[in-house]
Amino acid sequence: MKKRILSGMRPTGRLHLGHLVGTLDNWVSLQDEYECFYMVADWHALMSEYADPKNIKEYILDNVLDWLAFGISPAKSTIFIQSQVKEHLELYMFFSLITPLGLLERCPTYKEQLRQVTDRDISTYGFLGYPVLQAADILLYKAEAVPVGEDQLPHLELTRQIAKKFNHLYKKELFPSPQAILTKTSRLLGLDGRKMSKSYNNYIALSDSSEEILKKVAGMFTDPTRIRLADAGHPQACNVFSYYTIFAGQKKNEIEELCRKAKIGCTECKKQLGKIIADFLGPYQEKRHQLSKNKKHIFDILEEGRKKATLVASKTINEVRGLLKIKYGL
Ligand code: TRP
Ligand code: SF4
Repeated sequence: MKKRILSGMRPTGRLHLGHLVGTLDNWVSLQDEYECFYMVADWHALMSEYADPKNIKEYILDNVLDWLAFGISPAKSTIFIQSQVKEHLELYMFFSLITPLGLLERCPTYKEQLRQVTDRDISTYGFLGYPVLQAADILLYKAEAVPVGEDQLPHLELTRQIAKKFNHLYKKELFPSPQAILTKTSRLLGLDGRKMSKSYNNYIALSDSSEEILKKVAGMFTDPTRIRLADAGHPQACNVFSYYTIFAGQKKNEIEELCRKAKIGCTECKKQLGKIIADFLGPYQEKRHQLSKNKKHIFDILEEGRKKATLVASKTINEVRGLLKIKYGL
């Protein structure tokens, strides 16, 4: 029997190259070895976007299109929307009973978000419970592993603590202790050299047109010590070059040499990179475009996913209700 994994993404924007190289690639390659549940975490998105939720619906479909175009396969994996499976909320409620308040208040991601997010009010009861809902997502399916980035490790630790406490309190090994499958921190930085992120507006979206890609790459920062064309470049210190190492295959060696010997200018170098990225994304975008023409097909996939997820989820919830004596009937 294959081990089960679950992971999710919040539908708060279009997906970009950072998501592809960090997360999506990883999800795709895990599909054969594991029984995979991939979830659109729309309730998690609402926890920060509740005051202005108008874009969430559009991003749900947008993100799922990217998942499918880049190789998440409904034949292999269960693809579903969190809010379609109400059992998540019920388990979240049960878990909230046993989660110590201090653990949530001390959670590093929580403290960091409170500090960083200034344009939305997240000092709410709901946002404090973010990791509790995440624990419910994972344990509802008794997932043994969770592919995530390093930033999510505190949430996984909390998930294990909740699972352990639950098992202990109700004297049953109901929940596993899920482990992280760590995505290597993405080697891909944003166009400006900071972490690639929607909020910095320094990303190339998976659905950007060729023109947009060329324009964005043309504006990238290069080796800061290279001022004139005649100056030798330092590819290792250049963010543009790190994109070459990921997307350009053999061509990267050629560029490395040209740059070191000052035989190529940064403008030309970026022009070529823009084309390489646009050519790389092209076939996926074509697939995405084809998929987007048949929305019914996408909704069928999500409906199928909802059913498969619900089958597992309702079984777990019944077990939990039994242990907590919340059961009606004989
Ligand atoms: N918190 C995750 C993130 O921001 C998204 C998420 C929600 C998730 N539920 C999950 C990830 C369950 C893994 C497992 O990236
Ligand atoms: Fe960077 Fe290319 Fe300029 Fe070299 S030539 S510094 S790799 S942009």
